[in-house]
Amino acid sequence: MSMSFNGYFNGRRIILDERKLSNEYVPVKLPHRRTQIEETLSILQDVYRGQKKILRTVIYSGPSGTGKTAVARSIGKEIKEKSDQGKMPPILVSYINAHEYRTKFQVLRKLGNDSGLDIPRRGFSSEELTQYVLNFIDRRGNNLIIILDEADIIAKLGDGNDLLYVFSRLNEILPEIRMGVGLIVIFRQLEESLEYLDKAVVSSLSARVVRFDPYTSSQLEDILWSRIQADKAIKEEAVSEEIISMIADTVGYVPETKTGLGDARISLKILYYAALKAEEEGKDVILPEHVRYVMNKGVLPSYIDEEMIEKLSLHEKLILLAVTELLLAEKEKAYVNMGTVVLQYEDVCNRFGEKPLKYTRVWETVQMLKKLGFIDARIGRSTYRGKTTLISIPNASENSEVGINRIPLSVLEKILRDSISRELNARQRGEKPPQE
Ligand SMILES: Nc1ncnc2c1ncn2[C@@H]1O[C@H](COP(=O)(O)OP(=O)(O)O)[C@@H](O)[C@H]1O
Ligand SMILES: [Mg+2]
Repeated sequence: MSMSFNGYFNGRRIILDERKLSNEYVPVKLPHRRTQIEETLSILQDVYRGQKKILRTVIYSGPSGTGKTAVARSIGKEIKEKSDQGKMPPILVSYINAHEYRTKFQVLRKLGNDSGLDIPRRGFSSEELTQYVLNFIDRRGNNLIIILDEADIIAKLGDGNDLLYVFSRLNEILPEIRMGVGLIVIFRQLEESLEYLDKAVVSSLSARVVRFDPYTSSQLEDILWSRIQADKAIKEEAVSEEIISMIADTVGYVPETKTGLGDARISLKILYYAALKAEEEGKDVILPEHVRYVMNKGVLPSYIDEEMIEKLSLHEKLILLAVTELLLAEKEKAYVNMGTVVLQYEDVCNRFGEKPLKYTRVWETVQMLKKLGFIDARIGRSTYRGKTTLISIPNASENSEVGINRIPLSVLEKILRDSISRELNARQRGEKPPQE
């Protein structure tokens, strides 16, 4: 293969396009997901062909990094493009990540925004909002496809029932609405999440479940090569067969022994960090030592990474930063107590010129961070003053270099500080409204 022009112009030795290695990027090809794609398209076809007064639901289920988000987004993108080109009836495709939009109200508001409606943060009840948004989309003659990602969160937080109820009973709740609706609801832990939902709501959705299994090593090889050759994220001549199989073997799932993560995200991140390391050393090729370096460093991120942190609210980030700073400062401690966290949080707020929340709100936020899996909070032994809440970051103990889901604490600290500064700057420029 000839060298891409990009390779000369971005001045980098190995990486051609950083964005193509991020989680948000939708790759041009999705090897080993043909069945899932075809099944989804067949379930949704009446919706994208414009049939009215119907509901079609698909549930995706599978562990992290098995391509659920990528498949759903790529299907959404393709349908939207065909519709925009006039090859299919008008449709609105809305991608909603429940990590970012966690309540029924927020989900409907995001849906409204995607359809071009500007919705005030207050002044609507969630019922009024439902009616307003869905009527608006319907009146424009659109059908609707909603991709509800990370739905585990919304199921656990309790608003999942309400939200799914609206869609499962759309014809009864809003009889005037004609549009056809397609839903792709994505769960990481389907069985566990369904426990939180009403059986009646789930069964009236009559959804088909599409499973996403962990990738084997040879599947991961194809995925990594595809990112290099089809997407041109990395110079092909900078990577050898050996490097790719080394990464794929480390991460690949082995059905016989039921071991291995089978997570495409982690394998892509290893490739990315190894490429960065090689570039840092001034090399033109990735060597096994670079891959080994990344694996030994424990920088393998799990599903909580920068993109997830970006989706937290400002004060969630500030509190997480306070916990991170404390755990970094007190290396011998696996847990810090709630009182210390509050003081540190107030200090962090001062540094960023932000007014701290009241104690009860801080406590609620800590509980939310716990539900989201960012921190571990438990009740400590009782003392003469009563019981105290102890807070930690999963996997942060013992090896002090390894922090939240294997991101080193020091890296986490930097990610949080950058993200908070970016958010406050954006707010100053008036791009982002202050949070309540
Ligand atoms: N079959 C595939 N082909 C190409 N890239 C894939 C494939 N499956 C997953 N990926 C990539 O791996 C990463 C994780 O996939 P993602 O869809 O986010 O997983 P999930 O939503 O199941 O956690 C993303 O960068 C995605 O583009
Ligand atoms: Mg996902």
